[in-house]
Parts: sequence; structure tokens; C-alpha cells
Amino acid sequence: MTPTVSANLGFRLLSLDTVDSTNDVARRLAEDGAAADLVVRAQAQTAGRGRHRRTWISERGNLYFSLLLRPNCELGRAPQLGFVAVNAIVESVAAVLPSATAVNCKWPNDVLVQGHKVGGMLLESNSQPDGTVDWLIIGIGVNVAQHPRDVRYPASSLIAEGAPEDCADAVFEGFLRAFQAGRAVWESDGFKAIRDAWRSRAAGLGEPIRINLDSEILDGVFEDIEESGALIVRRNGGERVKVTAGDVLFTSAA
Ligand code: BTN
Repeated sequence: MTPTVSANLGFRLLSLDTVDSTNDVARRLAEDGAAADLVVRAQAQTAGRGRHRRTWISERGNLYFSLLLRPNCELGRAPQLGFVAVNAIVESVAAVLPSATAVNCKWPNDVLVQGHKVGGMLLESNSQPDGTVDWLIIGIGVNVAQHPRDVRYPASSLIAEGAPEDCADAVFEGFLRAFQAGRAVWESDGFKAIRDAWRSRAAGLGEPIRINLDSEILDGVFEDIEESGALIVRRNGGERVKVTAGDVLFTSAA
């Protein structure tokens, strides 16, 4: 398939058939000086990656794409755009599902449908010598037609949850539209409105939570997320702990 480049809702779209990883394609283009606001979409990936260097199985039928952004901000604020993107996935996914379907976000970057993971995001970035962002890549995978079976958190797909079979393009375009709107809010008003929207759909907020940190299992109550995007947990015993990376498990139903 010949790559096609077109304009799509304010992004240049590079549409490919099979790649190693759309994040890797976007990173190579970024390092070669590509301008911001490029989206790389592929039909399949041979080396799809998830968080914690896990494999992201990437057969045909699902959505795989990466945004190349160059936000004019400190590197520490870049994860806030990940929350803009999660909110946009939630919105675009909910739009193709039956209206009573529960669509939630799960810290840090997952999207759940009826408590099952249908989407995830991989953020990668590089900074300039002054600490501002050089490039930020937001890679997104959405299970449209199929989902992995043998995974640590139960997964599902949009079609299994009642979406129409041909919904992938609608989800992709709905995402770009919602992302552009959310980014405009972030640029003009900052993180607060984005965080409030994320919290309104957060699975397990205020409930018992278990987090698998590399060195320990942390049990407590999911209190909040802070400006940096870190998760705030009230440890059983009272101490407030800030978590920047880890796998969340809910100890009550999500
Ligand atoms: C996760 O939940 O662990 C994040 C999964 C991110 C997968 C997407 S698919 C498109 C982009 N390319 C990749 O290799 N990974 C991301």
C-alpha cells in the first residue's frame, strides 16, 4: 500500500499499511525534523509496544495511530496532553457504543468499556537543552474488532461491546476532533478543566485500589490525580503517596 498523506481535522495524516510501530515511525520523522501535528496511522504493526515495554498485539482490524506534537511547554507538563488524549478516546469511543454503556478512564492512560480495557496509550518524549519539549508522541491503540485474551487486566473490543463493525474511521475522526477541542482548552485555560473531565470518568476514584509498583504492592484509596498527572493514594494507615508509574488493580468493581 502506498502511504497517503492528507489533511485531517488540523493534522497531516500519514496513512500506512504495516509498520513496526506507529510510535517508532513518528519518532524517526520527529528526529528528521518533521513539523508538529502529524498523525501516523497503520492497519497493523509488527512491533507494537505498550507501557512497561510490553508487546501490544497489533493485528488488522483495530486502530493504531500516533500523534507527533511539539507543544511549547516544559517537559513536566507534557503528560497533561496524555489526559487530553484519554478524554478524547473516551468521547469518541462512547459515541459509537450503545448509550447506556459505561466508558471510563483508568489511570494513567487506559480506556475501559464495561470495566474491560479497550484502549491504551504510550507517551514518549524528548526535551530540548532548556527543558522544554522537543517532540511528544502519543501512541494510541483501540481494540475495535479483537482483543487479547491472555492479559493481566480483562480486555474487550468495541464490536464485542455493541459498536457497529465499520466504526474504526468514526472513532479515529471523533478522536481527532475531540483532541483538538481539548488541546485548545488546555492551551487557553490550563490543566484544571482537563483534569476535571478525566476525574468525572475515572474508574475507582475514592475507592480501594491496589497498585503494582516494581518494588512493592501498594494498597490504599484512590484519592486524586495531581497537576503532573501523578496518582495520589491514601495508604491504608493514613500516609498520602504519590505514584508516577505502576499498574492499577481495583479491589472493588471498577
Ligand atoms: C498500553 O496500554 O500499554 C499502551 C498501548 C499503546 C499501543 C499503541 S498502538 C499505536 C502505538 N504504537 C505502538 O507501538 N504503541 C502505541
